[in-house]
Amino acid sequence: MTYSRIVGTGRYLPEKILTNFDLEKMVDTSDEWIRTRTGVERRHCVAPEQTTSDMCVEAAKVAMEDAGVDPTEIEMVVIGTTSPDLIFPNAATLVQHRLGIPACPCIATEEACTSFIYGVSIADKFIKAGEAKCVLVIGAECITKLIDWNDRNTCVLFGDGAGAVILKRSDEPGILATHLGADGQYKELLYYPVGASKDLYKAGTDEAAIMMTGNEVFKVAVKTLGNVAVEVLEKAGVSKDDLDWLVPHQANIRIIQATAKRLDLPMEKVILTVQDHGNTSAASVPMALDVGIRDGRIKKGQTVLMEAFGGGFTWGSVLMQL
Ligand code: UT7
Repeated sequence: MTYSRIVGTGRYLPEKILTNFDLEKMVDTSDEWIRTRTGVERRHCVAPEQTTSDMCVEAAKVAMEDAGVDPTEIEMVVIGTTSPDLIFPNAATLVQHRLGIPACPCIATEEACTSFIYGVSIADKFIKAGEAKCVLVIGAECITKLIDWNDRNTCVLFGDGAGAVILKRSDEPGILATHLGADGQYKELLYYPVGASKDLYKAGTDEAAIMMTGNEVFKVAVKTLGNVAVEVLEKAGVSKDDLDWLVPHQANIRIIQATAKRLDLPMEKVILTVQDHGNTSAASVPMALDVGIRDGRIKKGQTVLMEAFGGGFTWGSVLMQL
């Protein structure tokens, strides 16, 4: 049986840290409100000249070193992001060139916070089909560049960063099952109003900012994330009792607690980074995975469930043995 396995991870966080106390000076909010409603205490923000591909390159270097993989071994690059440097060439192409990865398929996924999970699922299929042996998958966001810093409903939630993994073909179990979904009827609840072919005139104005009806998103997120966790376990024929770790999308501590409860999983088995990173959209799951592996909690051979939910709505989960 052929599997794809994660053999290396890495992350990059921009230097600048913005705390809840800093935000108290910018909008009508409080550290207490942000912490109790979201779990966020601080977040990293890119410098004005820094881009998503800059962060991807740094995270990828760490993941390649961790995996002991040279750029010339990589046969495909997949990058999930909602905040690419350019409309085209895509982020994967920019990063491939900067890292000296030879010509290969370079794919961009854009399912908002779920983009990394979609990327892993696509890479897994290419590896299992024999189309690639070694794939670089990254989730990265400069999401603080898409925010209205006067809107307290959104500006307290998000942060920037990049998380990378190296997936390799393996005879040992790795990814056991993936589950993806989307439902476009919820577009109005969470979206960015400017694109390449619609309302481009709004670019650079106050209207160009993430729009979110938070409490409505919250309700669907709780329900959907519980369902995708259970569905991927059923697909793989794995019992929730055999789960060692949950690596969830880090949007809100209360959503994460609800998913853990649905899985009867104590919070000690959940990797939490929301307090330090905020919601980094596509970067949140790979960065949390890297944190859990590097601090020694997630160990080789353990069963890990990753899941995410984002604008669209989109959702997805990956069940794997590390
Ligand atoms: O990653 C992609 C998916 N995104 C998510 O999953 C986000 C899901 N949503 C959430 O995490 C939560 O809904 C939020 C954290 C965004 C908001 O928390 P909430 O408990 O749902 O609050 P709310 O939106 O219902 O607002 C409650 C009150 C409102 O005031 P009134 O109308 O009750 O007087 C808001 O105006 O809190 C107010 N509020 C704030 N107060 C202080 C909203 N933002 C803030 C703020 N500081 N930053």
